[in-house]
Amino acid sequence: MGRMKRAHSHGNKEFNPETLALGYAYDPALSEHSLKPPVFLTSTFEFESAEEGKRFFELVYGLRAPDEGETGGLIYSRLNNPNLQMFEERLAAWDRTEVGATFASGMAAISTSMLALLRPGDVLLTTVPIYGGTHFLFHNILPGFGIEVHPVLAGANAADDMRAVAEQVGPERVRVLYLETPANPSIVHTDIAAIAEVARELRNEHGGELTVAVDNTLLGPVFQRPRLFGADLVLYSATKFIGGHSDLIAGVVTGDAGRLKRILELRTILGTSTTPFNGWLLLRSLETCSVRMRRQAKTAQRLALALSEHPRVTRVLYPGLLDVESPQYELWKRQCTGPGSLIAFEVEGGEEAAFSILNRFEVFRLAVSLGGTESLVEHPMSMTHADVPQEELETYGVTPGLIRMSVGLEHVSDLLRDLTALSASPGPSSHARYS
Ligand SMILES: Cc1ncc(COP(=O)(O)O)c(C=O)c1O
Repeated sequence: MGRMKRAHSHGNKEFNPETLALGYAYDPALSEHSLKPPVFLTSTFEFESAEEGKRFFELVYGLRAPDEGETGGLIYSRLNNPNLQMFEERLAAWDRTEVGATFASGMAAISTSMLALLRPGDVLLTTVPIYGGTHFLFHNILPGFGIEVHPVLAGANAADDMRAVAEQVGPERVRVLYLETPANPSIVHTDIAAIAEVARELRNEHGGELTVAVDNTLLGPVFQRPRLFGADLVLYSATKFIGGHSDLIAGVVTGDAGRLKRILELRTILGTSTTPFNGWLLLRSLETCSVRMRRQAKTAQRLALALSEHPRVTRVLYPGLLDVESPQYELWKRQCTGPGSLIAFEVEGGEEAAFSILNRFEVFRLAVSLGGTESLVEHPMSMTHADVPQEELETYGVTPGLIRMSVGLEHVSDLLRDLTALSASPGPSSHARYS
């Protein structure tokens, strides 16, 4: 146990992430032997001496290399804080990466990382569809900083398409290959290893710096570990499964020490990190992340099947229902270890029919976001992806009749019964609530 505090492996013993989430990176002796980490609600940390303060600043601002065995000290909570640091170390270990950085939101994590890695004239290639906020950042904000963004369709051809676009725009200008896999809300998988191979080829040919960044919000950290397939950066909206209780907004990035150093530098100066209390909530939530995600996926599998058999449903997008002969199934089996709990399904009758169904659910709550303990439904076209032009969305399969469902921890029979929302005849709804 004592060993686990400092290393996630000991001799030939490798600890699993679920075990690390309960004790790694915390030393009770430093906190009155409190078994659980306290909340370090402090903005600033006291130095033992002026010399120590100077040494800490030299390290954090990169003014000198650390001495043998020297680790940085705590200075000020915009730079770091014990609650954030413990969470970052545990998630980095989970992702099999070196360093983590926590942010005020998933969007703060994505935008700070992209601003740290990209400069005017650089090119970012991204899969589409992606979460609406990320889409807005890439297409409306980054171009204002002189960054060129080119989309390729998520899925089987994404790696070839990125290669082809890189050749067209000048491969030496390409700095980031960005993937959201599976994509929100089409649940299409993109081959991380194939994109990492494109990155390797481009690096070999041009010697330039290139980052493969994966938004792992939908299946990570439990069912997908992008680092094992060659990703350099793993990004999350921690608001979703990692936080898991719909009671916080946060983001996190994990990756190698070199890239994280640049991202952390920008986080410090932009002030995009999160609060100690959020760090504490994230630590608490990480302890149950695996249990929650596995149970939610089990329930989602039952619901997806019921939806696929429903006469009003024209299409169900869910990894657990993929045709075993399809390339997407082969990729999902190779890259992921579970189907997750996000289901998208389409009903005939467009937006009007979708809205009347959304208004009739009783147990599923009508709200955006995903990954919480409660089940949610929403309409991607007019809500989470309203930022993206409608014609563009339709080319990604996001149609007016598409509903997105995030499955929580309610009893499966209550959720299955709630699918009667699909059967009742359209008309005014009361949006009744169970009590
Ligand atoms: C896949 C994905 N990435 C990023 C984000 C942004 O995260 P946040 O809302 O925490 O800023 C979201 C939010 O819905 C998301 O679904």
